[in-house]
Amino acid sequence: MEFYIISVLSNKGGVSKTTSAINIAAYLANKGKRVLLIDFDAQANSTLSTIGTGNGHVGEWLVGEKSFSDVVVPYIDNLDVLPAARALDTYAKAIGSENDYQFLLKERIEEEKLDDSYNYIIIDNAPSLTTLAYTTFIAATHILLPSAPEEFAIAGIANVLQTVANVKKRYNPTLKVAGIFFSKYHPSYRSKIDNDMVFATKDAYGDLVMETTIRTNVSIKEALAFKKPVFEYAPDSQGSKDYEALVKELIERL
Ligand SMILES: Nc1ncnc2c1ncn2[C@@H]1O[C@H](COP(=O)(O)OP(=O)(O)O)[C@@H](O)[C@H]1O
Ligand SMILES: [Mg+2]
Repeated sequence: MEFYIISVLSNKGGVSKTTSAINIAAYLANKGKRVLLIDFDAQANSTLSTIGTGNGHVGEWLVGEKSFSDVVVPYIDNLDVLPAARALDTYAKAIGSENDYQFLLKERIEEEKLDDSYNYIIIDNAPSLTTLAYTTFIAATHILLPSAPEEFAIAGIANVLQTVANVKKRYNPTLKVAGIFFSKYHPSYRSKIDNDMVFATKDAYGDLVMETTIRTNVSIKEALAFKKPVFEYAPDSQGSKDYEALVKELIERL
């Protein structure tokens, strides 16, 4: 059975990690894939914008305090959420102080045989390369990098790619970068400086930069506020079309 673990990462906030993780997961679920969305950010934005709040959080499952079935919450058909909560920060600290903590997520996914239940695990991360984010580099098959046409966001790409290179060498030789994509951006409506930054990124990272960009679209934001994927909230919107194109391109690149 096809089984991919995609970690949506950036060490910058506000670049659409959460928005993208939710909508990518929802699109795949709509296509009949079995999908698990893991919220690895104690701010719990993915959780709040899907199921609201969980009955427990992913940290409790990681350390073995609660079983997977106690913590997982169904969201829409084919899509379950492993929620976050404020307390996840405290759990992450404790996890990070253990020997070999880097392998924890990978081991838990294997023990739980999640490859029997899901085709895709999509992980939404906090905006920094934290303890939990580091465990995703080792568990993941692919890293996906949302970015914004801003200097600091683009500088962050190098940082993540360096970590990917290190992890590949030591722990996870088959880890791949699925791609870098720009969000809240479209070549036709943004300033020259934004376009210049996107072109510079293409120069630096070549084929790693995806063709699809996600335009700024109010339906994307509203959908989250209504706890709905954009495909359900506004199926004919630009946002819906852009995310469909993004997932199609993503699948081609896996
Ligand atoms: N394409 C878009 N169009 C309009 N608003 C967007 C778009 N993508 C994200 N947003 C909004 O931008 C903010 C940051 O997005 P979010 O996904 O939370 O970023 P991150 O998880 O990287 O911090 C949110 O308020 C979200 O609703
Ligand atoms: Mg987020």
